[in-house]
Amino acid sequence: MNFDFTEDHLMIQQSAKEFAEAEIAPSSIQRDIDAEFPTDIVKKIGELGFLGMMVPPEFGGAGLDTISYVLAMIEISKVDASVGVIMSVNNSLVCFGLEKYGSDYIKQNYLTPLAKGERLGAFALSEPEAGSDATKQKTTADKDGDHYVINGMKNWITNGISADHFLVMATTDKEKGHKGISTFLVEKGTPGFGHGKKEDKLGIRSSDTCSLTFENCRVPAKNIVWEEGKGFNFAMNTLNGGRIGIAAQAIGIAEASFEAALKYSKERKAFGTSIANFQAIQFKLADMAVKIDAAKMLTLKAAALKDAEKKYYKEAAMAKLYSSKIAVECALEAIQVHGGYGYVREYLVERYLRDAKITEIYEGTSEIQNIVIARALLDA
Ligand code: CAA
Repeated sequence: MNFDFTEDHLMIQQSAKEFAEAEIAPSSIQRDIDAEFPTDIVKKIGELGFLGMMVPPEFGGAGLDTISYVLAMIEISKVDASVGVIMSVNNSLVCFGLEKYGSDYIKQNYLTPLAKGERLGAFALSEPEAGSDATKQKTTADKDGDHYVINGMKNWITNGISADHFLVMATTDKEKGHKGISTFLVEKGTPGFGHGKKEDKLGIRSSDTCSLTFENCRVPAKNIVWEEGKGFNFAMNTLNGGRIGIAAQAIGIAEASFEAALKYSKERKAFGTSIANFQAIQFKLADMAVKIDAAKMLTLKAAALKDAEKKYYKEAAMAKLYSSKIAVECALEAIQVHGGYGYVREYLVERYLRDAKITEIYEGTSEIQNIVIARALLDA
């Protein structure tokens, strides 16, 4: 076992850190207040190769491993978790799935611009009545000659307003349950395809989230990803990698919380000394540091298993379950260390709490991660 990162890993980590501090941090508070999508930042992270990190160069990607992706995700999310989720969805839920299961046509025409950051992707599985219970898809796709006609609604779609390409799960054969679900690549602007209003969210406010509507939306049959009936397996296999991305996002938020608490505890004086000299504060810092390290170990282990092409779905679920939990805990403790200052925007830690909460919900709630882990243990 080796805990050292390679030179390449350290270089990626450093370039993500420098970029995040120089280009993302200055506008983060205002974008959170205004719920403004970071269009220019997304363009720049695309140019840096951060939107197709694990895609081979032949399809426009950076050809890096999942460890590099985790390290970059942590640094970006540490400064702005909204940018983190935009990046995670494009990398893990869109590019990964297209590279693994897309036809040559799909790889050339859609994966390549998505991996280069010239276009942005979104992943549409959730529906008003199919969230955790994702097999209960009501959206339908009926074959009509060389097209499929999609009807239905999706909700909670990250990048829903800004994306150019959407991976949409829909039922092609009702009789077959989850084995009758298929995945389609739908282009923005396709007649019959629209989106709802931007959701007014508690956190990750600078990313956009909305519902999608499909009314007799005709999609070429060649835009099916993998094959008919494989859409649910596609979604589950893709989400396994997505959960590593969200675990990394949560670690970024936890690290930001810890670093803010550490800095403030050294600066703030009470009872004639820095509050860092009080054991009550020291124990909080120590607990946060242990939790962050444990979360990193779980997440890097899942990433290493994925890179080694071994089974990693249980480890990815563990990484997301634990990292999201400790992100909320660390953000809460960081607010406590800051006292009243932690409750106002200027000190950022209140945003960390608002941003952390969603990591326990999207890409499978904590309860769903527990189900995935428990089933894997019982099946072993
Ligand atoms: N990896 C691979 N395959 C999996 C899997 C996993 N983690 N979990 C389930 N599957 C497969 C099963 O092996 C089975 O496949 P076969 O039929 O080929 O054997 C199939 O999926 C059905 O599995 P189950 O019978 O276990 O189905 P279930 O209904 O009892 O439970 C579930 C499935 C695990 C609860 C699943 O529905 C689930 O993960 N739900 C959560 C959905 C989710 O994560 N949504 C996130 C939305 S996307 C999002 O948030 C993106 C965003 O914009 C940020």
